[in-house]
Amino acid sequence: MKEKIFIEGGRRLSGSIPISGAKNSCLTLMPLSLLSESELTLKNVPILSDVETMKALLESLGCVVSYQKSNNILNLRMSDKPLFLAGYEIVKKMRASILVLGPLLARFGEAVVALPGGCAIGARPVNLHLMALEALGASFSIENGYVKGKVATSLKGCKIKFPFESVGATANTIMAAVLAKGTTELVNVAREPEIIDLCTCLKSMGCKIEGDGERIIVIEGVNSLKGTIHNVVMDRIELGTYMIAGAISDGDIKLTGGNVALLEKFIEKLHEIGIEIKQAEDYLRVRRISNAPISSTNIDTEPFPGFPTDLQAQMMALLSIADGVSKIEEKIFENRFMHVPELIRMGANIEIKGRKAIISGVDKLKGAPVKATDLRASVSLVLAGLAAEGQTEIDKVHHIDRGYEDIIQKLKSCGAAIKRV
Ligand code: EPZ
Repeated sequence: MKEKIFIEGGRRLSGSIPISGAKNSCLTLMPLSLLSESELTLKNVPILSDVETMKALLESLGCVVSYQKSNNILNLRMSDKPLFLAGYEIVKKMRASILVLGPLLARFGEAVVALPGGCAIGARPVNLHLMALEALGASFSIENGYVKGKVATSLKGCKIKFPFESVGATANTIMAAVLAKGTTELVNVAREPEIIDLCTCLKSMGCKIEGDGERIIVIEGVNSLKGTIHNVVMDRIELGTYMIAGAISDGDIKLTGGNVALLEKFIEKLHEIGIEIKQAEDYLRVRRISNAPISSTNIDTEPFPGFPTDLQAQMMALLSIADGVSKIEEKIFENRFMHVPELIRMGANIEIKGRKAIISGVDKLKGAPVKATDLRASVSLVLAGLAAEGQTEIDKVHHIDRGYEDIIQKLKSCGAAIKRV
């Protein structure tokens, strides 16, 4: 059924919004259940369709998963009769499915995972995942859209240098190396908070990992992992998205559970353009410093701790009503400007030159029917709709359900005129 979101713009948001657990951490933590015969319990789990998809994938591999939505808890326990095929039907829905490859190879020595294929924002190959897992001793063949992995004897620790930071390749390799024989040294790893969250959980399962969050991670392989109870780190991308909702609506909102430490570069940029962020005991407060217009700025998206690519579309919506010309260079993905034509339909003045977008601020955006293409692009249209004059109608809203728990209710509770039909 084609659901749409309608927003009547121009309301100032005020009130407080609770921040949920991180989608991208949860999707990386869930495959840990494949590494152990004991139960893995995850708390502070967001209620998202991507979590449902990962649950279905793990169940297809023989994992028993219970998703208690009433208290945001996931219980996962791998059966001792594993299956090794991650089928295309599920994998094509979510690229994070590739994250079962490392754990399956480490624990069972074999895996058949459908190649995820590209997605809206780019080709998103998995060559770094395969390179690193091969270095640990796996061998792969690619046959009719599936990657088939095998481990002859057992994975052996070694030194692996990544040509550039990849969150998924770092996660997959760590999840394999924890059961490899001997020491693994990973160089030029991703330093995202979600990688640190993964390592924190693995340490509580008995793994020996040093250096998570730094450029070099050293892992001592162990023979088996025990179960654990782990709280998923809060979602810094959801946090950043609602910070922009407060800014773009000229509002004053509190984000409970928010922590500035995970968004330093992003917050630095918000300060630069005139948004005040105050960290209190257990919430962040966001409002404009004065009723001066937002000023322009230049942004390059980079691996953590740089400006997050997952907040690029949201920031562009805000800068489209800034005073002056801003430049955004998307340096992570090759095609992450799908929100631009839709923002232009709402009156934004944006020009794309390769991986650069030049945003000339306009006084006002105008509500319009627009369409969502990927998760972060669709939420940038919601943000633009909050500020636009008149009604904005957003089509294909299933993209939003992938990454934003309860977004309609969270925005409504702060006074937004938003509904889903
Ligand atoms: C993770 O994707 C996130 N997804 C993405 O969030 C996020 O945008 C991305 O990291 C960057 O921060 C999850 O955590 C589930 P990468 P991932 O490997 O791991 C290239 C969202 O909106 N690359 O760090 O796939 C790749 O094409 C999603 O929540 C290779 O070339 O990202 C990209 O250009 C979108 N070969 C760059 O590296 C590889 O083997 C960074 O990708 C792997 C990646």
